[in-house]
Amino acid sequence: MELKTLSDLEIITTSNSKINEVDFENLTFGTVFTDHMLVCDFENGKWEKPVIKPYAPFLIDPSAKVFHYGQAIFEGMKAFKDEQDDVWLFRPDENFHRFNKSATRMAMPEVPEDVFMGGLHKLLEIEKEWVKKGKGNTLYIRPFMIATGHGVIAAPSQSYRFMIILSPARAYYSGEVKVVIAEHFSRAANGGIGAAKAAGNYSAQFYPTKLANDQGYQQIIWTDDATHTKLEEAGTMNVFFRINDTIYTAPTSERILDGVTRKSVIELAKKENINVEVRSVLVEELIAAAKDGSLKEIFGAGTAAVINPIVGFGYKEEYFELPKIENSMALEIKEKLTNIQYKLAEDTFGWTVKI
Ligand code: COI
Repeated sequence: MELKTLSDLEIITTSNSKINEVDFENLTFGTVFTDHMLVCDFENGKWEKPVIKPYAPFLIDPSAKVFHYGQAIFEGMKAFKDEQDDVWLFRPDENFHRFNKSATRMAMPEVPEDVFMGGLHKLLEIEKEWVKKGKGNTLYIRPFMIATGHGVIAAPSQSYRFMIILSPARAYYSGEVKVVIAEHFSRAANGGIGAAKAAGNYSAQFYPTKLANDQGYQQIIWTDDATHTKLEEAGTMNVFFRINDTIYTAPTSERILDGVTRKSVIELAKKENINVEVRSVLVEELIAAAKDGSLKEIFGAGTAAVINPIVGFGYKEEYFELPKIENSMALEIKEKLTNIQYKLAEDTFGWTVKI
């Protein structure tokens, strides 16, 4: 895939870079940002000329709809540097298409491909020093769109701002991840916005996740809102269960995000002759498998989290510790995936795109 180029773009650079102040070995996820950002406004029914400018706060009307009605969407992507100092994106077309699907669901305008892809390409060219070599180093890319139109009428905004900001990142989770299975709260419902990367899907999780944190869990595995019997996705990741030698993950639906890492795991597993089944896994099935020893692994998959093994899960008053196993499929798949991302293995899928 070729990245679309953007001819009409204003670029204002700063020579006052913060890069030498950053400790790239000790990064807290999503807290350090590069020197520049991309901004493109939608006014009077059309997208204006995009601008790359120094990263800085900006003014916005207090009545803007993003503040009152949460009309906001985002994406999560990553750039990787190979041993030759070339910068690569991983399946950026998937993020671009999902972004515009989210936009449609949230009654927002679609962002043109040349603004999204062309703007990102140019921004990464300017910021390529921020992408560090070596496995584990990445530049996390956060494209997002907010409703900037003023007025508290509960109707879609007439103006929007699309932006891309970049953040050097290493691991999303720093310690062991334990999850609790949701019995009461829900992430999404049929007909809702669960499949969109809408800001509100994440803020709605903060309160139940805080309760889970207080009980010693890092994340929640969401269950279906109607019966709470089907396992769906974990807070910031899709989720996979290995029972004996098959890995299972729930099918995407109106409630589940169509994760790029999720679909890459499925494709990679198939190629590696690992049995993978996309079907609903029931809570009772998981408990039975944990009790009879056939549950070998649970892992999350997401752009920020990559592939994250889960060490145990809680349900009602019980805690189930997962066995320590030698041939972890999660780690095998993670190795294959990251080797493709860092160009350490041949990309037979055509997933990587050079900047
Ligand atoms: C990502 O994995 O990129 C996400 O968007 C999850 C986010 C909450 C960090």
